[in-house]
Amino acid sequence: MSTNQATGTVTSETFRPIISNFATGVSIITVRHNKKDYGLTASAVCSVSLDPPMLLICVNQNTGTQKAIMEAGSFNVHILGKQQGELALKFSKANTDKFEDLVYSYSDLGNPLFPNVVAQIECQLYKEMTGGTHSVFLGKVHSAKAITENPLLYLKGQFGEFTHLKLETFKSKEETV
Ligand SMILES: Cc1cc2nc3c(=O)[nH]c(=O)nc-3n(C[C@H](O)[C@H](O)[C@H](O)COP(=O)(O)O)c2cc1C
Repeated sequence: MSTNQATGTVTSETFRPIISNFATGVSIITVRHNKKDYGLTASAVCSVSLDPPMLLICVNQNTGTQKAIMEAGSFNVHILGKQQGELALKFSKANTDKFEDLVYSYSDLGNPLFPNVVAQIECQLYKEMTGGTHSVFLGKVHSAKAITENPLLYLKGQFGEFTHLKLETFKSKEETV
């Protein structure tokens, strides 16, 4: 068992290796504002509600993407596939032209839409809250489309993929009787 503990004053240095044990998917958030495309790689994405369909994303307030979402009032979430680690790295580099050499279109609400991802989710901004350095954006799902399978995963600062899915393990009692 790991003995890595953070008690008393938890700092960013002590918290990071602990929260990095929480495996996530990897997404790219995109938005268009004033005829300019913005985007970043984000793992802080969570389903909030199915009825109505809603999700939340957490975006650093120091990014152009955060300001653009505030202004545009909408955003796209792309769930990346296991082969898209390079794309995730490209969209995590600040002060670069992230959209250079990419083939993409625009979604119904006018934001950059990438093909060949696991899923495209288009959101209308519903609410914004501040949490420390980040904006927590609650989005109402406007459209959603699943395209491919096998998502990219992120755990302990590294990309990876499922080697086998044992979904039957997670069936509820009602389903198994
Ligand atoms: C795997 C991974 C997950 C990330 N998750 C988030 C996130 O959830 N929210 C966020 O604001 N930044 C996240 N980042 C960092 C941003 O992608 C990075 O700061 C980005 O370059 C900001 O772009 P900008 O400053 O050009 O707008 C993540 C980076 C990586 C590599």
